[in-house]
Amino acid sequence: MKNKNIYIASDHAGFDLKTKLLENFPKFYDLGTNTKESVDYPDFAHKLTKQVLKNKKNIGILICGTGVGMSIAANRKKGIRAGLASNSKIARLIRKHNDANVLVLPGRYMNTSEAKKSIQAFLSTKFESGRHKKRINKL
Ligand code: RB5
Repeated sequence: MKNKNIYIASDHAGFDLKTKLLENFPKFYDLGTNTKESVDYPDFAHKLTKQVLKNKKNIGILICGTGVGMSIAANRKKGIRAGLASNSKIARLIRKHNDANVLVLPGRYMNTSEAKKSIQAFLSTKFESGRHKKRINKL
């Protein structure tokens, strides 16, 4: 089995937060954007989900202004379960209950400390399965 990779991508509205997060999580694979020049969030969501879908263990982190555009774009791909988390409690629950494989953060509405806590919570939490598995299977 291939190793688990963690990918991160943002649009221009998430660029600042992504830059700060990469200082704390240098092993994440950065898929852009790499400047604050305006770009289209679906391009980055699609780039990231393509990588995440290569291995069941892979994880993605997407950031745009509100987190909504990235969530909509990522969830169009079969096999992607992207969840928008505005705090670390939600980040934990979307792993535990929804088996989310992509964490979406609202770059314009979340500070770096909460974003770091959210990522740590997401990465350290396991899917609870049980009654939640049945629901995932209905998606
Ligand atoms: C970009 O201005 C903004 O619309 C985008 O980052 C995101 O919030 C869309 O959902």
